[in-house]
Amino acid sequence: MYLTDEEKRMLDGEQGYGVQKGMQLMVGLGEAMEAEKLIPVTNVHLGGLSIRSSEDAGYLFYKDLADRGAKFKITPTTNVLSGDFELWTSMGLSAAERQRQYELIDAFARMGALRTQTCTPYLLGNVPRFGETCSWMETSAIAFINSILGAHTNREAGAAACAAALTGRTPYFGYHMPENRIGSVLVHVEKKGLNSIYDAGNLGFYFGRFSGYGNVVLDGIDEHIDNRFYVQLAGAASTAGDVAMFHIVGVTPEAPDLKTAFGGKKPVIEVSYGEKEEKEVIEYLNTANDTDEVNWVYMGCPMLQYEDLMDLAKEIEGKQVAPGVEFWATTAMPTKELIRRQGILQVLEDAGVNVVTDCCPILTPLGQLERMRNRGIHHVVTNSTKQCALIPGMCFMDTHYGDLEKCVEAAVTGKWR
Ligand code: F3S
Repeated sequence: MYLTDEEKRMLDGEQGYGVQKGMQLMVGLGEAMEAEKLIPVTNVHLGGLSIRSSEDAGYLFYKDLADRGAKFKITPTTNVLSGDFELWTSMGLSAAERQRQYELIDAFARMGALRTQTCTPYLLGNVPRFGETCSWMETSAIAFINSILGAHTNREAGAAACAAALTGRTPYFGYHMPENRIGSVLVHVEKKGLNSIYDAGNLGFYFGRFSGYGNVVLDGIDEHIDNRFYVQLAGAASTAGDVAMFHIVGVTPEAPDLKTAFGGKKPVIEVSYGEKEEKEVIEYLNTANDTDEVNWVYMGCPMLQYEDLMDLAKEIEGKQVAPGVEFWATTAMPTKELIRRQGILQVLEDAGVNVVTDCCPILTPLGQLERMRNRGIHHVVTNSTKQCALIPGMCFMDTHYGDLEKCVEAAVTGKWR
């Protein structure tokens, strides 16, 4: 792989241990992917901060970097942790886990990372420009910034994004190359009136399964849809398949029309999305068919925005979460502060909703089977397609999947109907 003279000196250690380590990773990744060169990167979102995802190897690696004085050249935002520090004990997490989580996030902060601790950093000020070269970890966010903002990133692993932040470089391959960003699969969206994040999750999960054929192009989506729809679409699609990018004709900056979305070529395959396909997705994601029992209700994957929390408050105000049911709504810390000021947090807490920040259920040690069972939790009720896809495999639990109204009804009655 071609390296500039400066990059060679970085690899030789002229700029210190952290940059050298980062360059070793970038060159290794670049050679594995047969990249011809490195390119400057200006925007990084880091993962690997959760003690569950980093495990021992990541914990030791990142701590060692920080202890040796490594500093990020690009100030990165950071992804979720394994728990909410303010609710740590009530979440059933131990003091030892808290200490390890603190040391890990402290290591990233000492290197210069921003403690955003969210999977939706693009809602908190890290909004990449059209065409900006990024190195992002977190599948839902990657699909969002490529597809809706027109930024350029691959689906990075935590260590690769960290190396990009240390060096300001990333290998030139994949979604950094214009020819890999054009569409291959045409999805005719025949179902009209799609609007809610539940609608978005169903559609995203459907088309994500075609990612093996290349980038999907969605044609026929109503124009009035808001940002929340696209966030959920990206989250669901990137879980159903290896989706880093999709096009929505008229929305994606690189897809002003169908012809441009396909780069002038013909689609490899064409499929349609209507009532039948939506029903199939809903049936597939409802795995808790043997029970109507409700133990745990979860919303916030990807993390809830202000408007989502407002909608939840409207739906649950004056009602009460049933005894024995736990209700989590996850969001970013600044959003929780905003709803506190607006009086919405009080409404949610009065109804029995725990507004949890900084973490994600599948990355908490709480997600482990034994811990769940000890707490008497066996099934999850959620409106998140991504969690439905991940929870059975990662947490060994079944899912009841429905829209906001159905999830709130389950929470207050203790029954799934
Ligand atoms: Fe965020 Fe966890 Fe979902 S990181 S996108 S809440 S799986």
